[in-house]
Amino acid sequence: MHKTLSQYLVEQQRQGFLLSEDLKALIEGIARSCKSIAHVVAKGALGGVLGNQGTDNVQGEAQKKMDVISNNILLQANEWTGHLAGMASEEMDTIYKIPNSYPKGKYLLLFDPLDGSSNIDVNVSIGTIFSILKAPEDSLNRELTEADFLQAGSQQVAAGYALYGPQTLLMLTIGHGVVCFTLDKDVGTWLLTQENIQIPTETKEFAINMSNSRHWDTPVQNYIHDCLAGTTGPRGKDFNMRWVASMVAEVHRILQRGGIFLYPWDKRDPNKAGKLRLMYEANPMSFLIEQAGGASVDTVNRILDIQPSQLHQRVSVILGSKNEVETVKQYFV
Ligand code: AHG
Ligand code: MN
Ligand code: MN
Ligand code: MN
Repeated sequence: MHKTLSQYLVEQQRQGFLLSEDLKALIEGIARSCKSIAHVVAKGALGGVLGNQGTDNVQGEAQKKMDVISNNILLQANEWTGHLAGMASEEMDTIYKIPNSYPKGKYLLLFDPLDGSSNIDVNVSIGTIFSILKAPEDSLNRELTEADFLQAGSQQVAAGYALYGPQTLLMLTIGHGVVCFTLDKDVGTWLLTQENIQIPTETKEFAINMSNSRHWDTPVQNYIHDCLAGTTGPRGKDFNMRWVASMVAEVHRILQRGGIFLYPWDKRDPNKAGKLRLMYEANPMSFLIEQAGGASVDTVNRILDIQPSQLHQRVSVILGSKNEVETVKQYFV
C-alpha cells in the first residue's frame, strides 16, 4: 500500500524534518496545481490547449497557450492560501504580489509552469518546475520587492517538479533526500513510489543539444569530442547520447539511471550566461540533483552558491553524476 503525499509530509513532520504546517500545506497546494495542469495537458487538441498564445514572454520566447494556462493555474491555486508572500514565474515579467484581499504568508514560490514548451504540440514529455524560498522576516510588514527573491539556491526550503509523461510524476525534496510520487488518476492522489533516490556517480550517457556544437566554448567542445572518441579515446568508454529538449525529462532520467546534462554558454548570445534560468530551472533542479548525491555547476562554481542579481538571469548548467561533473570541470581549469 503506497503512502500518499500528505502521509509522507506528516511523517516527515513527525521526524522533525518538515519546517511548518504552512510549508506542508504549500507543497500540497502545488501538488494539486500540478494535477490540474496534468489534466489540461492531457486534453491536448480536445481541449484547444495546443499551439501559440500569440504573445511573447519576458524571455523573448513566443508563449504557448499551455505556458499561460499553467501559469494561471499555479497563481490561482496558491495566491489565496495565506502561505505565500509572493510568486515569480518564467512567464511573468516581474514578481506577483499577493492581492490585499488575501493574507500574506512567509514563503516565496518560484516556478517554470511549463518546462519543455517546444514539446507541447508534439506530445513529448513536459513538466512544471517549482522552488520554495522563505520570504525575508520583515517583508510581511512592507511591500515585497524583487530583491526579496534574489536568494542563493542553497536557501531553498523545498523544490521539485511534475513530469507529464507516460506516467504523471511528482519529484520532491525538502532537504532530506529525494522522493517520487506517481499520480493515481483513478483516485486523483499522489502515491509515494520511490524514496531515497540516489544518482550513480559514474555514467556513459550525456545530454546536450549537439546542433549548437560550433557555438560552444572550447572546453565543452573538447569534453564532447573525448566522449565521442569511444573506448580507444581518452575516456576509454563508449558514450550514449540523449536530448529530449525538456529539462524535466533529462533530469528525471538522470535521477533514475545517472547521466550528465549540459546547457553551457555559447556564442550565439555571448551576453547571456546560457539558455536556462537560474531561479526557477537551475536552482530547483540543482537542489534535487545534490540531494540525490549528484553535482551541479555552472562550469566551475556550484550553482546553489550563486548569488542572483536578476530574477530572470540565466546560467550555464552542467549537472548529473558526481564523478562525471568533476571530469567536465577539469576541462575548464
Ligand atoms: P522552457 O520550455 O520552460 O522555456 O524550457 C526549455 C528549456 C529546457 O527545458 C530544455 O532543456 C531546453 O530549453 C531545450 O533547449 P533547446 O530547444 O535549445 O534544445
Ligand atoms: Mn519558455
Ligand atoms: Mn523551462
Ligand atoms: Mn517554461
